[in-house]
Amino acid sequence: MMTKIVLFVLLFISCDSNHLSSRILNGNIVNTIDQFPYQVAIFARRNNLSLTLSSGAIISCKFILTCAHCIKDSSQANIYYGMTSFDQISEENYQVINNSSYRIHPNYSTFKNDIAIMLTSHDIQFNDKIKPVRLPSRSEAFSNYEHSETLKLAAWGIYSNAQEISNNLLYANIQMLSTNECERIFGSFLITDQVICSQTLHCSGDSGSLLIDHNVDNDDFLAVGIASFANYETCTEGVNHASAYMRVASYLDFINEHTSLIVD
Ligand SMILES: *[C@@H]1O[C@H](CO)[C@@H](O)[C@H](O)[C@H]1NC(C)=O
Ligand SMILES: *[C@@H]1O[C@H](CO)[C@@H](O)[C@H](O)[C@H]1NC(C)=O
Ligand SMILES: *[C@@H]1O[C@H](CO)[C@@H](O)[C@H](O)[C@H]1NC(C)=O
Ligand SMILES: *[C@@H]1O[C@H](CO)[C@@H](O)[C@H](O)[C@H]1NC(C)=O
Repeated sequence: MMTKIVLFVLLFISCDSNHLSSRILNGNIVNTIDQFPYQVAIFARRNNLSLTLSSGAIISCKFILTCAHCIKDSSQANIYYGMTSFDQISEENYQVINNSSYRIHPNYSTFKNDIAIMLTSHDIQFNDKIKPVRLPSRSEAFSNYEHSETLKLAAWGIYSNAQEISNNLLYANIQMLSTNECERIFGSFLITDQVICSQTLHCSGDSGSLLIDHNVDNDDFLAVGIASFANYETCTEGVNHASAYMRVASYLDFINEHTSLIVD
């Protein structure tokens, strides 16, 4: 069986969308950014001047975690953080990152090792609204979170064929799939130990968004996965539709090598 697998960075069409689209992932509006204080919007500029929208996450004041296909072949990227809406862009929450500051996984190929790190141009100042995600420990590498009720993903992408991004950050609660079910859908070639899957869909513009496990008791945001690919094009719920993520816990050596962040 041939399954068509797609990647979801969004070619950015126009910036004058003041309407609030609430379609992404059947998303809920994120009212204040302290609900997702690590969230980064990434606009990557290709040499032909096209811009693509994706997301990333702050992992320290110097580093952003994202997907490889989110930034590959771009000359530079604009990143925005500390904000839920593109109306809130300001000097303090904006940086331009040159492609010499990208660290794309050396074994990245479409659908495999879809992970990258960006070095910030200057340190990100943390406060109540801007904080890093917590990296998992090695012992968390094989959890499938199948029955977890606390997984979430936030993004500005679209959730239909409408050619608009969401002006406001939206989030969804994410239902996971078992590895067996995911292998049945995508095939075992793609579904290695480094990949984790959800039943809940991500869509255009959502690539690079972090799947997080949010513990509300201590406001802990654990980085679980990086939104990478899916097996549907029209972004509508359907039988056998699933989304795949790179499992952050499988890439701790790569992260450590490029950031010197200690992972255990
Ligand atoms: C610009 O380049 C990107 C990435 O290579 C490609 O996806 C897009 O179609 C190109 N756009 C135009 C207008 O040529
Ligand atoms: C980095 O950007 C420059 C243009 O500024 C481009 O010539 C070069 O190909 C890019 N490098 C990569 C690895 O995409
Ligand atoms: C990007 O980095 C390269 C290598 O450090 C440098 O030569 C180039 O001027 C930089 N480009 C921009 C736009 O900052
Ligand atoms: C990339 O693949 C090669 C060959 O399989 C392997 O030796 C190397 O460790 C891999 N690199 C990373 C960073 O995983």
